[in-house]
Amino acid sequence: MKVYSKRLEISQAVANLRKTSKTIGFVPTMGALHKGHASLIDFALEQQCDSVIVSIFVNPTQFNNKEDLKHYPRTLEADLDFLKPYGDKIIVFTPDAQEVYGDEVKSKDYNFQGLDKVMEGAFRPGHFEGVGTVLSHLFTIVKPDKAFFGEKDFQQLQIIRKLVEIEAIPVEIIGAPINRNDDGLAESSRNQRLTPEYREAAPFIYKTLRQVKADFSIKSIEDLKSWVIEQFAAHELLKLEYFEIADPHTLKSAKNDQKSGDFRAFIAVFAGDVRLIDTLALT
Ligand code: PAF
Repeated sequence: MKVYSKRLEISQAVANLRKTSKTIGFVPTMGALHKGHASLIDFALEQQCDSVIVSIFVNPTQFNNKEDLKHYPRTLEADLDFLKPYGDKIIVFTPDAQEVYGDEVKSKDYNFQGLDKVMEGAFRPGHFEGVGTVLSHLFTIVKPDKAFFGEKDFQQLQIIRKLVEIEAIPVEIIGAPINRNDDGLAESSRNQRLTPEYREAAPFIYKTLRQVKADFSIKSIEDLKSWVIEQFAAHELLKLEYFEIADPHTLKSAKNDQKSGDFRAFIAVFAGDVRLIDTLALT
């Protein structure tokens, strides 16, 4: 498994790959790799990618909260060990900020047509501009044919689709199903920071989403939202940041009397100081 940290090295490696690989996939990550990332890489290799580039870069511009950036797990050695079994099927790119951004570590301004103003975007101002900017740079450096993102960050996935449309980047964006633990908790790098007590409590998030899905055809949207708020208000450990039922394409909040079309539930919860998100298709 080759590991490169310089943009010139990875560009050269990709150019060499192009001579033999028909399709080059890309799995951008911020490290702290877990089963969810492995399933993304597996999914990429199964989706007719001959080779996959995995980047590991904790992107400063997408953190609106300095403490969150400071505490974000950085586990490069363990990440490289985790990826070793893939051997030459993958190439790892581990740049620093200078390699990705040059001298100006700064977000671009984007008009994501409102997709970035709701849910995660409302609670993390500037977050999606940071995500868009780093991916714009990474796509330019790596030049993949297909790029893979987990559906756990469903809003991010829709915004990345918009990004490649706005910047006319020739890459196919593919969403991969959420990888869950046996108890339903969605895999996330942030799970590593949960204390045993919070880890035990956290599956309540998915359990609540499942109940919303079960009740979706019999309760109004307003009642479902109130019910979720009550569940978390009564919970000793977990604090609800938001719960939303929205159209998965526009991410616009569903109206109370609207029940035909596509709907998806979105949730963000604090387990202590660890912020967890999850999502579930309701239709
Ligand atoms: O989902 C993530 O891990 C990050 O937002 C991404 C896409 C790697 C950009 O930094």
